[in-house]
Amino acid sequence: MSDKKASLSIDGKTLDLKVHSGTIGPDVIEVSALTGNGYFTYDPGFVSTAACESKITYIDGDKGILLHGGYPIEQLAEQSDYLETCFLLLYGELPNADQKEAFFNKVRMHTMVNDQMSTFFKGFRRDAHPMAIMCGVVGALSAFYHDSLDITDEKHREISAIRLIAKMPTLAAMTYKYTIGQPFMYPQNHLSYSENFLHMMFGNPCEPSNVNPVLAKAMDKIFLLHADHEQNASTSTVRLAGSTGANPFACISAGIAALWGPSHGGANEAVLDMLNEIGDASRIDEFVARAKDKDDPFRLMGFGHRVYKNFDPRAKVMKLAADEVLAELGLENDPLLKIAKRLEQIALEDEYFIERKLYPNVDFYSGIILKAIGIPTSMFTVIFALGRTPGWVAHWNEMISGSYRIGRPRQLYTGPAQRDFVSLDKR
Ligand code: SDX
Repeated sequence: MSDKKASLSIDGKTLDLKVHSGTIGPDVIEVSALTGNGYFTYDPGFVSTAACESKITYIDGDKGILLHGGYPIEQLAEQSDYLETCFLLLYGELPNADQKEAFFNKVRMHTMVNDQMSTFFKGFRRDAHPMAIMCGVVGALSAFYHDSLDITDEKHREISAIRLIAKMPTLAAMTYKYTIGQPFMYPQNHLSYSENFLHMMFGNPCEPSNVNPVLAKAMDKIFLLHADHEQNASTSTVRLAGSTGANPFACISAGIAALWGPSHGGANEAVLDMLNEIGDASRIDEFVARAKDKDDPFRLMGFGHRVYKNFDPRAKVMKLAADEVLAELGLENDPLLKIAKRLEQIALEDEYFIERKLYPNVDFYSGIILKAIGIPTSMFTVIFALGRTPGWVAHWNEMISGSYRIGRPRQLYTGPAQRDFVSLDKR
């Protein structure tokens, strides 16, 4: 931390505030001294607030840079794989060959869920939204691991992280199978992580497993591109829930709930719905006009970002992957991909989007790949939650293994000043 200072002059007083510098990125001004002087900071939406110190992920929104453990997302997407990236997020370094094999085996040994879990699904309607089911069943995992929920125990924290990374694909596939009335598929641990997921999603007990390696590779890249993203809304939710001492399964369930919103992880489902609603390139101008109309709540889903004021680097990788996957599947003339590319081109030339620095984000192209893989739109945000799990558990573990306090923001109160109660006969 640096020894820089900032001064704040207010009501004839000058307050000296500490300034801290990170490895890279903006300095931060420590404002905790304000409370003792009768002030709070005010920052709705936390646009300018650093809520914590972290070593896991760095984003430069102006330059469109995303680093996990210092490694650019483009290099990880090209040269690494999802489970290796999970290791990097959890332990801060890429694994060597022995560490990689050991980690893979640990995850493999925890892909099954307690068979009692399957009874929870029966309580849901078959047409329940998959994210509603995932919020429930992931939180319910905490009912099965009473022997390892001591968050002060490093080994308990590690096994919980492994269990969550290992079981999310199983629960996600069970959720999908339940909604289509097909039997649950058990994980096949001779398969890779992404092959196993696609096997559990699309396999059935009457035929041998037959996963297309092209789709498995694309799935792995999708998971990797969603693995972590600094202090986004759902990760901040996990951290806040974790700061109360709640168990990791409950915290991840809170993260899943936060991710569900269409402004966050729900955007990938909303992008596909939007592209289908546009239906033809001739209607793009109509939708762009609606997105610009202040009186119309419609927003161009998959565009804009709180941090990126340049291209989301994940969107660039996702766009290339979409071209590759669709070409390899002979779907290069996919009408939705054509509409998406034309929409991107028109939006990026429009003053409204240029002025507000609105670029495609991670959700703009991901849905097109997921659709090509055969994932139904209603499962898109579940895929996002699955991919984001290592990021959530890494941030939770980083906070719990360090010094932390319960998160408790304050407010600017604009309600009534104190007044006496008025009896009913006088109202
Ligand atoms: C994710 O934080 C993360 O890191 C999230 C994420 C992750 O990996 O965890 O990257 C994943 O959530 C990506 C974002 C997915 N959401 C969408 O694609 C939904 C559409 N985008 C917007 O809702 C919006 O851009 C947000 C929510 C993403 C960002 O909102 P901000 O930062 O609060 O920006 P804002 O709402 O204040 O918008 C600034 C201006 C406004 O116009 P003015 O009032 O200045 O005139 O830009 C406009 C907005 O109306 N605007 C849009 C727009 N996004 C912003 N106008 C039309 N279409 C859009 N998509």
